[in-house]
Amino acid sequence: MKTFIRTGALALLAATPVALIGLQAEAEPNRTTMPDIGKLVHYTTVTRGEVTEHIMTTPEAIAAAKAGQPVPVGTHFVLVDYRGGEVFRYFVMEKGPNWGADYDDGRRTGDWQFQWFKPDGSINLAENTARCQSCHTSRSDREFLYTYNELRRFKTD
Ligand code: HEC
Repeated sequence: MKTFIRTGALALLAATPVALIGLQAEAEPNRTTMPDIGKLVHYTTVTRGEVTEHIMTTPEAIAAAKAGQPVPVGTHFVLVDYRGGEVFRYFVMEKGPNWGADYDDGRRTGDWQFQWFKPDGSINLAENTARCQSCHTSRSDREFLYTYNELRRFKTD
């Protein structure tokens, strides 16, 4: 059973190296891995102000969504967040076999886990990925994806 720190407490903890050790236990390596993004298909782009997001996944996930089938276990989705032409961070979702069982029902997002990777491939230990899940849970009828419709509409040829 995990307990979560409020955002304000996180900022305080981050200020002290001793507390940072506690923070590491809290936030939060999980099963999500960084895929080889060269093998993924960039199916949509979202821009907001200075931020450009390239969103990508596997050809198999695109085919499944188009067919109205569940996205296969083993699928990654990556949101590459560019600022000023440089990668600022990678947001990654990965679906694994029964990975949802790592969480209680209030937190679970199907069998998806979430992670924030820095450009050097390390994870952002200041992030509590329960935040990712609490937002994406509103898309439970669309594979927990915000860009599910774009995925289905993407032209593969
Ligand atoms: C406040 C709500 C919110 C939070 C918190 C959030 N997301 Fe998202 N996420 C979105 C929205 C909305 C999109 C669609 C792209 C856009 O509009 O920027 C998205 C898109 C994505 C995508 C592309 C696939 C998709 O769903 O369309 C990934 C991958 C992703 N988010 C991962 C993460 C990760 C990892 C975290 C936590 C570190 C996170 N998200 C936190 C709202 C959120």
